[in-house]
Amino acid sequence: MKTQLQPMVALTFDDGPSARYTPAILDILDQYDSSATFFILGTQVVDQEQGAELLSRMVDSGHEIGIHSYKHVAFTELTPEELAIQILTAQDVIQNATGYSAKIIRPPYGFINEALLKLIPFPIILWSMDTEDWRIRDAKIISDTLLSVVKDGDIILLHDIFESTVDAMKIVIPALLEKGFQLVTVSGLADARGVTMEKGKVYSIFPPIETS
Ligand code: NI
Repeated sequence: MKTQLQPMVALTFDDGPSARYTPAILDILDQYDSSATFFILGTQVVDQEQGAELLSRMVDSGHEIGIHSYKHVAFTELTPEELAIQILTAQDVIQNATGYSAKIIRPPYGFINEALLKLIPFPIILWSMDTEDWRIRDAKIISDTLLSVVKDGDIILLHDIFESTVDAMKIVIPALLEKGFQLVTVSGLADARGVTMEKGKVYSIFPPIETS
């Protein structure tokens, strides 16, 4: 039997922040008093005038910031030294912009292997639901698909760099709340499910707690 705990999911947004699209997503999350996780790229922060300010806004609004990498390179193609630079540089960018220490990472493309697990000094967050928003680029299809398959404990992969994803969130966020889901950060979801995330381990879903 499942407990009566409120069902929850973690919306996660990769490849930002985007001065063009991230503010609209933050506005929608604010409007519905909901939280999300942003796996950011270091280059997106340093190459945009508003980059640091967007990260500060995320922290101030109670969202979680995770590391995606500095330049969106496949970790599987890197030497250990190059990997360390990708991770530590992105970590520094976040720290310098906000004072916030990132605690989780999502490798670009979700590419990971056994050797990398030993080298990555953070819990590795993948996903249980891939909206393919980067390919589909249609708010209605993205939202219909997401809402038809979403389940308790899902980590949902999205990208805050497309207008269609912003438009999809205008539909998805109120609809998820209407369905009774709470929208939480990845770390919030792990906490709620009693999971202590460990470095070098991969997490893609935090299923509902079963009681006997
Ligand atoms: Ni990415």
